[in-house]
Amino acid sequence: MKKGFVFDLDGVIADTAKFHYLAWKELASSIDITLDEVFNEELKGISRMDSLEKILAFGGKDKEYSITEKECLATQKNERYVALLSNVTQQDVLPGVLSFLEQARQANIPCAIASASKNAPYILDKLRVDDYFVHIVNPDTLKKGKPDPEIFIKAAKAIQVLPCEAVGFEDAQAGVDGLKKAGFYTVGIVKNQPLVGADLLVRQLDEINFSKLIN
Ligand code: BG6
Ligand code: MG
Repeated sequence: MKKGFVFDLDGVIADTAKFHYLAWKELASSIDITLDEVFNEELKGISRMDSLEKILAFGGKDKEYSITEKECLATQKNERYVALLSNVTQQDVLPGVLSFLEQARQANIPCAIASASKNAPYILDKLRVDDYFVHIVNPDTLKKGKPDPEIFIKAAKAIQVLPCEAVGFEDAQAGVDGLKKAGFYTVGIVKNQPLVGADLLVRQLDEINFSKLIN
């Protein structure tokens, strides 16, 4: 019997992953690096600064910027990302998510968010789904990001369930790897990207038989 749910945010609750990609693509282009969707898969689930480091290495420019300049680039990307989020409303919650969260509420199954995004509280508020989550792991408290299992173990603790009693939902390979290492039953949300190692793959949450999943 599963007793708790842990969700990634970007690409699982809402399609904000496309805004991250757009903001990074523009930032990279401003420093003459061309990003594509294949490389973008490697950025999913990874923190803002780690994403920037990967992009600079991808463009062969990892030695060209000081820490202060890198912080400035990361801030520029975030400002663009937050601007792209300005029109986000509950309409942007991915299909099947609201009814799934409602079923969890009816079944008294606590839900937590395990996202690398520092913007998670702001986005959940804009989506009007924050009430469904009893805990949002603060990424600033983590020693290591995904694919390390730390964020998922923290989320399980916060909702007082063991990882083996929990289900995790992820759209990124780093997230699926972290969930499996932590010992969660793992649901992968696929669009067009490859995702290896999940226990169940779905395109959207309403493909899941809720009672079968928890039993
Ligand atoms: C993750 C996204 O959820 O959050 C990454 O998959 C993103 O693409 C990371 O870089 C950090 O987000 P933010 O909002 O703190 O820059
Ligand atoms: Mg994601």
